Amino acid sequence: EQAKPYVEQGRVFLEPYLANPNWPIIAVTLALVFPIIAIVLNVASQLLLPRDRTKPPTVFHLIPFIGSAVAYGMDPYKFFFSMREKYGEVFTFILLGRKMTVCLGAKGTNTILGGKLSQVCAEDAYTHLTTPVFGQGVVYDVPNHILMEQKRFVKFGLNTDNFRAYVGMIEDELDHFLNSEPEFAAYRKGGKEDWGHFDAFEQMSELTILTASRTLQGKEVRSQMDKTFAQLYMDLDGGFTPLNFMFPNLPLPSYRRRDKAQKAMSDFYVNILQQRRASKSDEVEYDMLASLMDQSYKDGRVLSDREIAHIMIALLMAGQHTSSATMAWCLLNLAVRPDVQQAMYDEQVKHFGAPNGTLRSPTFEELKDLPVLDSVIRETLRVHPPLHSLMRKVISDMPLPATLGNASEDQPYIVPKGNFLLAAPCITQIDPAIWTNSFEWDPSRWVDPNSDAARMYAEYTETGEKVDYGFGLVSKGTESPYQPFGSGRHRCIGEQFAYVQLGTLLALIVRKLEMKADKVPPHNYTTMITTPSKPRDITFRRRQV
Ligand code: HEM
Repeated sequence: EQAKPYVEQGRVFLEPYLANPNWPIIAVTLALVFPIIAIVLNVASQLLLPRDRTKPPTVFHLIPFIGSAVAYGMDPYKFFFSMREKYGEVFTFILLGRKMTVCLGAKGTNTILGGKLSQVCAEDAYTHLTTPVFGQGVVYDVPNHILMEQKRFVKFGLNTDNFRAYVGMIEDELDHFLNSEPEFAAYRKGGKEDWGHFDAFEQMSELTILTASRTLQGKEVRSQMDKTFAQLYMDLDGGFTPLNFMFPNLPLPSYRRRDKAQKAMSDFYVNILQQRRASKSDEVEYDMLASLMDQSYKDGRVLSDREIAHIMIALLMAGQHTSSATMAWCLLNLAVRPDVQQAMYDEQVKHFGAPNGTLRSPTFEELKDLPVLDSVIRETLRVHPPLHSLMRKVISDMPLPATLGNASEDQPYIVPKGNFLLAAPCITQIDPAIWTNSFEWDPSRWVDPNSDAARMYAEYTETGEKVDYGFGLVSKGTESPYQPFGSGRHRCIGEQFAYVQLGTLLALIVRKLEMKADKVPPHNYTTMITTPSKPRDITFRRRQV
């Protein structure tokens, strides 16, 4: 009904043209000519107009609006390396109408991730993707100081007591998984010829969500994992894709499923909270829900049930793909490196071997003290960090440091308000100028505590400058060439949990399985995070002890 006047206006406008018998030819010609004109004008403006020296150079592109979307989207590493060669460490590229200014190198990352709140804003860069999935009132749907408080609440739940309880729970889940999941259960004998195979990313996704729900998410979520919750998760996850990032709302079934699932999942958590309050049970819960129920903001306001529900969804989504992809990459690399598998296994025997030849269960404290295991996780996150691009929106014109990029000394670049900034610590993590054999997966680089890598790691996690952004004292880490968990005020709060989850699973999997594969598959960048491309099968058999 509302559209009627517009349709009528359109009809009146088109009538004289449609009266012309040649209108189809004219229409086709215009449809062909307009894009050509747009491309010609776009190219001419880049080649002929003098460049504004106050702004970083713009990557040359043929098609307006689309810009460099294809080159960046297909292989961001290749794109960043070749643009760095052409334009220096600072350049702007067009990504579906958005102006993305990339600042490479440790100093570039520091400028973006350590940027002032008055200049850079993560909320404006991410909210259109995350708020429809997480729900309102949390993370990037609230002002930054509220997010910092919410991170404080979550950190409170990610404590040593809880981690101690999680190690045993994860071990239980893994045992159950290997004995019940068809891919693994069919190969129990460990005989010489009893080799099976599994899709590394699919199986690790399942194991990650099972262990995260048993630990962080709580028993109610775990008990629904094989039932309704799994479907809700799938539908919600279908709304957390690069398409959703570029186009927050399209009239597509996946967007409708996302919105329905968000509401249903939010209600699901709110119901759990209400039931827990009503039951007044004395049972101690080590999960995040229990912890969030006790938290209040600095002004005294307690967290509402909706906020808790939406924080829980945010944690589920933030931890799922990052950890499952990391698990898959760890296993794929181990599968092609039997020597590293053996070193991990020997480490287990050394620490947990019983006189009768069996290996006892590890504890949280013991897992933290296994250098080979640690080095495998660190190295995997160096070569295959799940997030290749960290973004911020520029909210007031931002002069960059004079030394950044190919700017002339007397005229540093100014990134205009409205541009997006893109930090890519993934590039410094494999920069040949920083690392020996930088493209090689070589865990041994971390083991010597006096190595450059170990020193960088210590600075990123412990010895570097510490800042309290409102969620407790953390290593700032913004200038580190190694930062798989980001840095500054938006630094990941799941790092320790991820190490507990990954460490426990890896240690125990290496005890139980021998794995092999011909090669590590290439990165797939068309997913929201960097996943292994298919085929990504690992051949395995039960370890004979
Ligand atoms: C933020 C990586 C696991 C919760 C981040 C950021 C990175 C990252 C790079 C910074 C994003 C930015 O600056 O734009 C990882 C990796 C993980 C992992 C590599 C696993 C291997 C987890 C887990 C949780 C989690 C398990 C939850 C339990 C968060 C949250 C933020 C975040 C809430 C947002 C912080 C903010 O914007 O202030 N993560 N993450 N992450 N991560 Fe993680």
